Amino acid sequence: MAGGPSTPALAAAVSEAGGLGFVAAGYRTAEQMASDIEEVRACTSAPVGVNLFVPGPGAADGDALAAYARELEPEASRYGTPLGPAHDDDDGWGAKLAVLRFAGVAVVSFTFGCPEAGVLEKLRGAGSEVWVTVTSPGEARVGAQAGADALVVQGIEAGGHQSTFDDRADPEGFGVLALLRVTRAVTELPLIAAGGLTDGPAVAAVLAAGAAAAQVGTALMLSPEAGTDPAQREALAGEDETALTRAFSGRRARGLRNRFMAEHGTSAPSAYPHIHHLTSPVRAEARKRGDADGFNLWAGQAHGLARAAPAGEIVRGLHRDARAALQAALAGRVGPEVGREDEPRPHAPSPEIGGPADPPAAARHHGRSPSR
Ligand SMILES: Cc1cc2nc3c(=O)[nH]c(=O)nc-3n(C[C@H](O)[C@H](O)[C@H](O)COP(=O)(O)O)c2cc1C
Repeated sequence: MAGGPSTPALAAAVSEAGGLGFVAAGYRTAEQMASDIEEVRACTSAPVGVNLFVPGPGAADGDALAAYARELEPEASRYGTPLGPAHDDDDGWGAKLAVLRFAGVAVVSFTFGCPEAGVLEKLRGAGSEVWVTVTSPGEARVGAQAGADALVVQGIEAGGHQSTFDDRADPEGFGVLALLRVTRAVTELPLIAAGGLTDGPAVAAVLAAGAAAAQVGTALMLSPEAGTDPAQREALAGEDETALTRAFSGRRARGLRNRFMAEHGTSAPSAYPHIHHLTSPVRAEARKRGDADGFNLWAGQAHGLARAAPAGEIVRGLHRDARAALQAALAGRVGPEVGREDEPRPHAPSPEIGGPADPPAAARHHGRSPSR
């Protein structure tokens, strides 16, 4: 969760609890990423992953971008700051890959696209599994052909940016369960499900639908280890609905509806990272003022279920409640108690699901342990 919520402390706490914590390398320099990895390693010897943004096509429609910049001038006046320069960048792609070739982290995962096969091969040579985030069966095919070890299958429910390889395509988007099943039809790779999985029964659902593991984002955003902005924490705890928007970054992302999104959501063109840079000073100033109407409040559709608890407790709770939900489903029990019980009933069958002591799902699938 680049942009603040992910911290080394959060990644370490998740990995210590038996999950696979990720260092969010997006928006960080290669040096900052290397120091984040070191910080996590100082806190835990458990496996950890690193997540990178794949650079996009670069070109943006200059006229559309200029028109959007004009539309945002009143925002600049409102927050007393000039707009940022709407430029392209590759988020330090080459420098980060160079660091990761010697970092030996358990997993390197990618979003916004699929790197060339040679990039994946080099990282694998460095002892890392490589995971590619996909939002459609077509993207899954590309990831499989490039040699990914596993695919993160991101449903439209997910908080934050959609990983769609070509943001301009503007797809309707698959819900996570449908996406899991249609992706399974095109590849046998391990699938990690993401999107709207905020409590144990939701995790149970994707495991039952064939996911090797569940990836959660929003579920961790209220933990003390997360770097979530205070105004966003408050908004997350409410019942506001989420929506997809390009208003803040120029790439479709899901967040809580707020004034900025309502006023600019329909006019923002597809232009990432140009619009990310354009709005950056306005968003920073809104954050500073505690004004939740002026910056991106990324959150998944099920944000109302996120709990303010230590990250380790959240991870262990997801595991425990997923197990209970699977057992309840097998026993034919339904009802509001599912996911709210601490202990499974003694007579219920005991399905095997990945537990806190288990290695990452993809590592299990390949019959080897991830490097530490
Ligand atoms: C605040 C926030 C930041 C995110 N940043 C990233 C990121 O840097 N890289 C990435 O691959 N996914 C990112 N995501 C998406 C998550 O990886 C994941 O797909 C999503 O959180 C799953 O949906 P959920 O939030 O409903 O659990 C982010 C999500 C959120 C909420």
